[in-house]
Formats: sequence, C-alpha cells, structure tokens
Amino acid sequence: MRYSDDLIEEIRMKNDIVDVISGYVKLQKKGSSYFGLCPFHNEKSPSFSVSPGKQMYYCFGCGAGGNVITFIMEYENFTFMEAVKFLADRAGVRLPELEYSREAKEQADLKATLLEINKVAASYFYYKLRQDTGRHAYEYLTGRGLTKDTIQKFGLGYSDRYSNDLYQYLKGKKYSDEILRESGLFNVDEKRGMYDKFWNRVIFPIMDVNNRVIGFGGRVMGEGKPKYLNSPETKVFDKSRNLYGLNTARTSRRKQMILCEGYMDVIAMHQAGFTNAVASLGTAFTAQQANLLKRYTDEVLLLYDSDEAGVKAALRAIPILKAAGLTSKVVNLNPYKDPDEFIKNLGSEAFQKRLDDAMNSFLFEVQVLEKQYDMSDPQSKTRFYHEVAGKLLNFPEELERNNYMEAVSRKYGVRFDNLQKLVNRLAMKGTPAQAYVRPKSGSGSKEGESGIDKAQRLMLTWLVSYPDTFRVTEPYIGPDDFTTPLYHTVADLLYEQYHQGEVNPAKLLNQFTDSEEQRKVAAVFNARIPLEGQKEMDLALTEIVGRMKKNSNAYHAAHLDPADLAGLQKTIARQKELEAFESGRIQLHISTN
Ligand code: UTP
Ligand code: MN
Repeated sequence: MRYSDDLIEEIRMKNDIVDVISGYVKLQKKGSSYFGLCPFHNEKSPSFSVSPGKQMYYCFGCGAGGNVITFIMEYENFTFMEAVKFLADRAGVRLPELEYSREAKEQADLKATLLEINKVAASYFYYKLRQDTGRHAYEYLTGRGLTKDTIQKFGLGYSDRYSNDLYQYLKGKKYSDEILRESGLFNVDEKRGMYDKFWNRVIFPIMDVNNRVIGFGGRVMGEGKPKYLNSPETKVFDKSRNLYGLNTARTSRRKQMILCEGYMDVIAMHQAGFTNAVASLGTAFTAQQANLLKRYTDEVLLLYDSDEAGVKAALRAIPILKAAGLTSKVVNLNPYKDPDEFIKNLGSEAFQKRLDDAMNSFLFEVQVLEKQYDMSDPQSKTRFYHEVAGKLLNFPEELERNNYMEAVSRKYGVRFDNLQKLVNRLAMKGTPAQAYVRPKSGSGSKEGESGIDKAQRLMLTWLVSYPDTFRVTEPYIGPDDFTTPLYHTVADLLYEQYHQGEVNPAKLLNQFTDSEEQRKVAAVFNARIPLEGQKEMDLALTEIVGRMKKNSNAYHAAHLDPADLAGLQKTIARQKELEAFESGRIQLHISTN
C-alpha cells in the first residue's frame, strides 16, 4: 500500500520545506522563521509561517499546517501517495514500483480511469452543444441570459437525443463495460443493457477544487421531471465533500464565500461578477463542506431560496458553519426566489446591496422563531423571550452575549436589563444550552474541544516544545495515558522517537496520510506554550500531568475487567499517585535550556 518509511523520510528530507513552499508563496524571513500570505485562506497580513528548523509550516490564522508532504497534498489537492510521488520527482528520487499492492494499484488506476472518462465525456458534451443538433440547447442557455463566455467558462454541454450516443463513443475508445458502469454516466437494466443516463439535457460538469471533472448535472430544457438529473456518487465523486463552483470561487480572493442552492445560481452570480459563489450538490450542506469552505474564508453568506424549504436549509446550515468556525449571514432576496432571478430583474448593484445588508445568522434564527409565537399574546410573547434567552446562553463569551442581547432588545422592544436577568436566571438554573451540531471529523478549530482532549493536546505540545519533558514526566505518564485515539497514536510515535534519541515532528507526520489528521497533529506541534519563568512552568507542567492522570485513571477504571486482579491493583496504585499530585506532594521540575 505504501512505500517504506525510510524512503518516505528520504523524500521528505530531500525537499526542503522553504524551497518547496517558496515556489507557491512569497516568503519573507523574520527571525528563525519565514512568513507569507496563507494560500489556504484569504488574508491581508501574513500569518502563514514556515520553520526551516522544524521543517513544518503553520498558519496562525486558519490552523492549516504540516510538513512538506502535507503542503503539497493540501495545495495540489493530492492524496498522500500522489504528494510523495510529486516530491520524489522533484528531488530526483526513484520510486520502486513493487511496493504497491496489486489491490492498491488497481484502486488508483480505477480512479484515474474514471477521471479520464469524465473528462472525455465532458468534452463530448461540450462538443455536442456546439453542433447543429445542439442548437436548441445552446439557445436555451443563452435564452436564460448566459453569455458565450460564461457557457465556455463552466464547460457547459449537451447530451444528445440518441440514447446511446455517449456509450457508443466511449466503447469506441475501448473502455470496458465494467469500468463504464462505475462512471455513473450510464443506466443498466436487464432488457436494454447499458445506456446513457443523460438524454437530451443541458449538461453542467461538476469539478473539484483541482478542476478535475468528478460528475455531472443535467437539466431538462423547459418543463419536465426530474428537472435536474445528477451523477450518482462514484469512486471519484463524493457529494458531501465537494461544492459546485469552488474551483473558481477559491481564487476569487473575496472576504466572504456565498453559499447557494443551485447550478444556475452559481453561474448567474459568477457572470454578474460574484465569483465567490458556490453551491452544495443537490444535497443538504455537510460538515465536510463547511470545513472545505473554512480553508478559504471566515464568513459565509447564505443565499438559499426565499421559500420555506430555503429557510429550513439555512437554519440547518448555520450551526454546521458555526461548528467549523465560520460566521454566517443570511441574505434576503425578496421578492425574488433565487439569485438568478434577482440578478436578472434588478441587476448586480442591487444584488451587492442585498449582500451588504445580510442579516446576522443569530438574528435570523430569532426572526424565524418569532414567527412561531403570537406576539400580541403576553403569555406567548414571554415564552418567545424565554426561548431567545436560552439561545443567548449559547454564547459563552460575555461580551459577545451582551452584544446580542443588545441587538435583541433593540429589535424586539424588550428592556436590556430584563433580558439580562432572564438570561442569568436561566444560566443559574443550568438550563442545558442547546448544543450546536459539531462535525464528526475534526475541523481544525479547537472550539468545542473537550477538557480531556485539551489536556492531551497540551501535553503533546509540551513534549515537542521542551524535550526535557520526557525525562521529567516519564515516571508518571506514558503513551497509554493518552486516551483520545489520534493523540494516543501520536504519543506512541513520539515516545518511540524519544527512546531512539531523536524527536522529529516533521518525520512523525509522515505516518499520517489523511490530511485532516495531519492538520490536527501539525496544530499540536506548532502550538506555543505562553509561559515564562521557571516556577510558572513547573507549576503548569505539574498541573497538566495531574490532569492527564486523572483522565486516564477514569478511563482505565471504566475499561477495567472486574476479574483482572493485577489490573485492579494497578488502578489502586494509579489512584494513589494521582492523590500525590493533587495534594501537591509531587512537584515536577523541568529544565528548559
Ligand atoms: P432549483 O429548483 O432551485 O434549481 O434547485 P435552480 O438551480 O434554480 O435551477 P433553474 O433555475 O430552475 O434551472 C436547486 C438545486 O437543487 C438540485 C440542483 O442541484 C439544483 O441546482 N436539484 C433540483 C436536483 O438535483 N434535482 C432536481 O430535480 C431539482
Ligand atoms: Mn433558478
């Protein structure tokens, strides 16, 4: 499945990170590090740092980080293997063919072939749109106000009336039925065999951030059902991890991203100059898509249709965006249904004005809530305020909460101090604040991190920042005290490196082939411990080791087999040691030079 660790490490070492990144980002030396504008999010002042010593990069703005392999994966949208190959080429390292298992090679080949088929199909549709037989399709598109330039930019196409057109064409190019079946471009049934999925429709190729065609949408011209047909998910098309239009939007260098519902909305907006518009792919917005957006922006404007379904979709998206660390605002397009119609009727200036007037998403939620209450009825009105107060508790920070209370009190005519009293009373009662939906996979943002995770993350930061930490803490904790799976893995590797006499975070990162994991691990390695003074450091380290022990004792006790006597004795010993920490009988001393 992969090359040997030694080979990967050799490739990493032969590609100096400053050299490689300089090819993409203008870097300036400051002290022992280099700084530049982060290529993974939009920023005006440089918070992207590259450390030649550590051979790692880290962005203090968006949390992107890793070693040279991670950088190439993220920047070029490559898999781990693709990035390793790329860097091997760059450094002139020859890669052995053998280490691929047959299965892995087949999978890689399969994906490459599917992408190739998509590309061939996209050019075929593109060609068909420009033939005589495609004239009505072309006219449909221009009739909807699209210019020649736009049609070209989005690579729009047409699927012919003959239902076996594309199939015949691809067979002519010697693709097997087996692989064509996996492309999602064909239907298969017993009677008819394999035949084109898209038939007499205008075609919207869907591209990933790297401009590779991963799927298609096809619209009937005029009325007809279904209005849009879409490729099913395939080995190269994961709908929850891609956004239509992002390949262009990511280079728009705008402060915000616009999130809307449809193909035509994205295209109409881009044509009108709003090249930062993207759409989810006929499915509900996902946490992965939010994480994807977070790489390019901090704020998302929601432009869902102004009907009931659109409002619902916006309400669903808001907490998902928030969990990914993005703020959002909701744009009102009344009386038009969607951006496409709005722009057609009122033009781009009026549209820009609506973007500027977008409503803060919390106030939008409150506004939707208000509609469910009869505000002329005192009792109902009171219940509304209670509910709003409960929502306000979701802002952990007092200043922010106060700002929102002020906004609510202004808009809904309730006195600020009354609202504040209500909020405080609810807080004391311990009313469970509505939990925000959090993405399952990590978002890189540390928001919502549990105390247990945090202690482990800090401990790892200590270990890589001050090598003496190993010596001082080893009698008390080891890899098994890291109970969060990812941190446990990192700890295992780190202790192993320590015992072999070389703590090397950049090398350690080679072990993680998933870019989301790399990002998290890199964040740990690049965090700083903002402490000075021997005493303060000793106290902090002692405290964190105590916390680690407490967590891991609880964990091990909960996972103890009651019949395991040795385990039980160990648990008791652990507990004693913890008490020694908590009573201050054990005090650690670290040397930091
Ligand atoms: P809309 O019905 O709002 O489409 O659906 P639209 O983009 O405004 O299209 P026009 O202007 O009528 O041509 C929004 C999105 O939902 C998905 C598509 O991704 C569409 O862009 N959709 C809609 C489907 O996948 N299938 C459908 O039948 C309808
Ligand atoms: Mn529309």
